Amino acid sequence: MGTSVLTVADATTLRYVDETLHMEDVPLDLVARDVDTPCYVYSANTIRRQFERLERALSGVPHRTHFSVKANSNRAILQLLQGLGAGVDIVSGGELHRARQAGFTGRDIVFSGVGKTAPELHAALDASVLFINVESEAELHLVNEVAGQRGQVAPITFRVNPEVTVDSPHEYIRTGEKGHKFGIPFDDVEHVARLALSMPHVRLVGLDMHLGSQLSTFQPYAAALDRIAPMVRSLRALGADAIEYLDIGGGLAVTYDEERPIDLEQFAEGVARATRDLGVLVILEPGRFLVAESGVLLTRVLYRKRSGGKDYIITDAGMNDLIRPSLYDAYHRIEAVTRVAGEVVADVVGPVCESGDFMALDRRMADVASGDLLAVHATGAYGYVMASNYNSRPRPAEVLVDRDRFALVTERERIEDLVRREQTVLQWRSA
Ligand code: LLP
Repeated sequence: MGTSVLTVADATTLRYVDETLHMEDVPLDLVARDVDTPCYVYSANTIRRQFERLERALSGVPHRTHFSVKANSNRAILQLLQGLGAGVDIVSGGELHRARQAGFTGRDIVFSGVGKTAPELHAALDASVLFINVESEAELHLVNEVAGQRGQVAPITFRVNPEVTVDSPHEYIRTGEKGHKFGIPFDDVEHVARLALSMPHVRLVGLDMHLGSQLSTFQPYAAALDRIAPMVRSLRALGADAIEYLDIGGGLAVTYDEERPIDLEQFAEGVARATRDLGVLVILEPGRFLVAESGVLLTRVLYRKRSGGKDYIITDAGMNDLIRPSLYDAYHRIEAVTRVAGEVVADVVGPVCESGDFMALDRRMADVASGDLLAVHATGAYGYVMASNYNSRPRPAEVLVDRDRFALVTERERIEDLVRREQTVLQWRSA
């Protein structure tokens, strides 16, 4: 009995106390009884710890950390990070709205994304965002036009595609290689900069890059900064003398299975070295690093079954609640909330009518029975935000834990919510 430390990543926040998994000082079976399953549960102190670790490591570098809202856009989490002093990196008008609601001001917000619309650009200028990351020549024209209509000058940075090879675990989370859809192709940057300098309604205030996710060493950042740092100088020489930001994106790796987490000291040292003489404020856009390890998805075992010599554990959470295993073959550790004796090798599958609906395949894990609770680990990033209503399943609840307290932060969607916007009486218009 008593306390045993579970993993390195979760050491301080997830542990068994008297055979029951606790997040901080809250037993997770209590949360499941109170809120029902499936539900996401986040540890406030894990987020605080990750933010503080990053800030401590980077204390020698003039910088600001802008949380990438796409990883987890829950208002309670945004407010927590806002209180710690973070800014945000957003990619849509919806994320802008959430950020504003959470209390971020324009100067706290950088606006990224490969396909911003005119209404989104208007909203960004309404909010006086710190800068808009421009990703193409065509977008530059639109930003200049929209700002012109408003009689404003839009602060912009260029997202440059540094065209370096990145060793991310899945091809969908690499973004900075030659030919990717993101950013301005490296060789076009000078031309687009000349164009920007000739435009009355934009001001080039920085350069930006984002290489991909799950980067565990400084090496890809080093390779990219080797190409982008000289560009700061050459663009200034062209007349872009307002450049004051260098946004190096997100991508810091965490441990899901046996991956190497980012070595923060090595990372910070590398950033310091690469940016030392540039006279820029470094912007970072970590998403996963700040929130992934804070979250578990709680799900209840509905059934056990054997088919074709295989054991199945059928849970009440499906791919609509957590799509990472299905979409990226992502690994998430799964543990019984109340310890059980014995192990089994099983597929953990959801109720969705797709063979691709699984949390784990051929996983050696606790030999749980119908009614038992499971915790799917490290689901604080790209979990709830990627949930859908597929199979007309309401999206799960979200809960925040802070020491010995927990609060519902998003209520479970209701069945009525699913049809709320559908029209019952059709208003036909003639073509
Ligand atoms: N900045 C930009 C411009 C990005 O596109 C992203 C992530 C980030 C920052 C934050 O990256 P992070 O620090 O979280 O690695 N759904 C995928 C991840 C997609 C990441 C997209 N962009 C997953 O579940 O692994």
